[in-house]
Amino acid sequence: MTDPADPAAPAGPVAVWHRLADFAVLLDGFHALKHALRFGAEVPVAVTTDRAATLALADELAPDVRETLDALLTEVAPGTYEKLVPRPHPTGVAALAVRPPRAANLEVLARVPRPAPVVVLDNPRNLGNAGAVIRLAAGFGATGVVTTGTLDPWHPTVVRGGAGLHFATAVERVTVEELPAGPLYALDPEGDDIRGVKLPDDAVLAFGSERSGLSAELRARADHLVALPMRPQVSSYNLATSVGMTLYHWSLTADF
Ligand SMILES: C[S@@+](CC[C@H](N)C(=O)[O-])C[C@H]1O[C@@H](n2cnc3c(N)ncnc32)[C@H](O)[C@@H]1O
Repeated sequence: MTDPADPAAPAGPVAVWHRLADFAVLLDGFHALKHALRFGAEVPVAVTTDRAATLALADELAPDVRETLDALLTEVAPGTYEKLVPRPHPTGVAALAVRPPRAANLEVLARVPRPAPVVVLDNPRNLGNAGAVIRLAAGFGATGVVTTGTLDPWHPTVVRGGAGLHFATAVERVTVEELPAGPLYALDPEGDDIRGVKLPDDAVLAFGSERSGLSAELRARADHLVALPMRPQVSSYNLATSVGMTLYHWSLTADF
C-alpha cells in the first residue's frame, strides 16, 4: 500500500504504521526514540523527515543507538509525517513501540527482594506530572511507577512527558489493593520529617493527587507518613517535585 500523499515513500513502513497506530506507543521525537531503544523497547517502525539530519543527531547525542537507528529509520515526506503524528515534533522523528505486556510489568513490580523503590501516584490528575514522575523514576533506577484511579499512565501525553522512559521502569495502573508488597511510605505534609527517615530499597513510596492529596484508602494502608521540609505558610509542593525530592533522599543512602 503506498501513501497517496507521498507515492515515493516506501509502502512498507507507512502501511505498518497504520496497522499498529491504534494500539502501539507513539514515540514522539528523537529523544523519546533514543531512550526507548536504549531500554530495550521493541520498535517495529520509525520515520523521519530528514534521515541524514537524524543520523547526524545520533552521531552527536546517541552514538550507542546510531546503528539501530540507521537500520530502522525510513525517510518520509513532511506531509506524510504530519499525517502520521497528531503534533509534529521539532526533530521530525516519530516511531511506534510495542507496549510491554502488563503481566511482565506486574511480575517486575512483585519481585522481592526489590533493589529500588516503587513509586505510587494515588489518583493523579495531570498527565504532564505523571510523565515527569516516570522520567524521574527512570533516572533514579526505581523499580516502577504505578498509578491508582482513572488516569492512564500510558496516555500519549504521559509518554511524551516521560521522554520515552516508560521502557526504563515498570509502568502500570493498579488498584490500592493490588499495590506491590513492601513497607508503604506515604508522603504527606503532616508526616514525620523525611530528614530523620531512612527509606529502604523495598519501599513503596506513595504520593497523593494534585487536587486532594492522599486518598483515605491509601492512608489506611500506609505504614509511615513522611513529610518533606517546607516553611509554614507554604501548603504543598508540586507532585513531581515531591517525587524528585523523595527519590533523591532515598538515593543518598542507597547503593545507587
Ligand atoms: C500538590 S500535593 C497535594 C496538595 C493537596 N491540595 C492536598 O490537600 O494535599 C501532591 C502530593 O505531593 C506530596 N507532597 C507535596 N508537598 C509535600 C510535603 N511538604 N511533604 C510531603 N508530601 C508532599 C503529597 O503526597 C501530596 O499528596
